[in-house]
Amino acid sequence: MDKLIPTVNKLQDVFNTVGQDEIDLPQIVVVGSQSSGKSSVLENIVGRDFLPRGSGIVTRRPLVLQLVNVPYDKESAADSTAPPARAQFLHLPGKVFTDMSEVRREIERETDRLAGSNKGIVKTPIHLRISSADVLNLTLVDLPGITKIPVGDQPSDIESQTRNLVFEYISKPNSIIVAISPANVDIVNSESLKFAREVDPKGSRTIGVITKIDLMDRGTNSLDILTGRVYPLRLGFVGVVNRSQEDTVANKPIAESLAYESDFFLNHPVYRTIQQHCGTGNLAKLLNHLLMQHIRDHLPNIKTKINALISQTEQELSSYGRMTTKNDSVSNASRLLKAVTLFSTEFSNSIEGTAPEMS
Ligand code: GDP
Ligand code: NA
Ligand code: MG
Repeated sequence: MDKLIPTVNKLQDVFNTVGQDEIDLPQIVVVGSQSSGKSSVLENIVGRDFLPRGSGIVTRRPLVLQLVNVPYDKESAADSTAPPARAQFLHLPGKVFTDMSEVRREIERETDRLAGSNKGIVKTPIHLRISSADVLNLTLVDLPGITKIPVGDQPSDIESQTRNLVFEYISKPNSIIVAISPANVDIVNSESLKFAREVDPKGSRTIGVITKIDLMDRGTNSLDILTGRVYPLRLGFVGVVNRSQEDTVANKPIAESLAYESDFFLNHPVYRTIQQHCGTGNLAKLLNHLLMQHIRDHLPNIKTKINALISQTEQELSSYGRMTTKNDSVSNASRLLKAVTLFSTEFSNSIEGTAPEMS
């Protein structure tokens, strides 16, 4: 089962390259209002600083982020330090980044390239893959924030633009929705939960994340929300503490802020009693588990589609016959067929997993 997600990721790459939209692969989609902490949650899950930052509308194109776990064998390695994380963009084939501030600059450049340097948003996603020994296998999507009022030179229909974009991603039945709500805003007003409820009324693929737990008024806490007594969500809530703006400006290393978060929850008189609902580590584990479970639940459906695609591709290939000229469609189709076949094999080898207990 562990091999399944890297295979899904590979398959997704092939589809992106050949422009195949037919298979709706599982992914985790992060939604929330402007500045609710979406990008911070993503960075914490990855354990690295790599996303553009700054006040206002920073995320203006969807970012499809594949995290790939590359096992690292300490015993047999030449020296004791793990190799650096490798980042690659689909739009820059062959180029490998190891400096995360360059990754950030490339996201900014690529955002401006299509979305312009004003505050407009564009639907076309940026595809980024980060491979490292210290990430879990996950595919995550960072989206522009839900916006109510145009700012700067944003078009007057920015609300419907972001709305349509968010719905495009979360309405896919194969999406797991990470609905972000900041702890210092009444949960009744959470835009992300409103959006999620529209496409997932039973709450079967929505996980709630409460950010900014450290910014709550003294004497108040999120205990009732995190334990599901305020807003019912079948998959439950996880509370997190991300880096503050001040710490970001001061370039506080992300490892330090994760250690701070861990201490915060362990030593807190209330949160220490509900550890399974607290912290980025638990969130990442839960997400990985949900993704695998989700893939398993949707395997029959995906397999049907893949089989249809295989016969369609085979037909296409045979219709090309013995053409000797170099033909991109043929090699694309062959690659697709190879990936699909590999996927099917992984698919039949997949094993059962069990869901984590959240409450
Ligand atoms: P996004 O617009 O939803 O992607 O939000 P960002 O992740 O960019 O965060 C917006 C601002 O809130 C930044 O200044 C973050 O440093 C800050 N922030 C996010 N999460 C937290 C948190 O848990 N605690 C604190 N103190 N600040 C946070
Ligand atoms: Na929100
Ligand atoms: Mg953002």
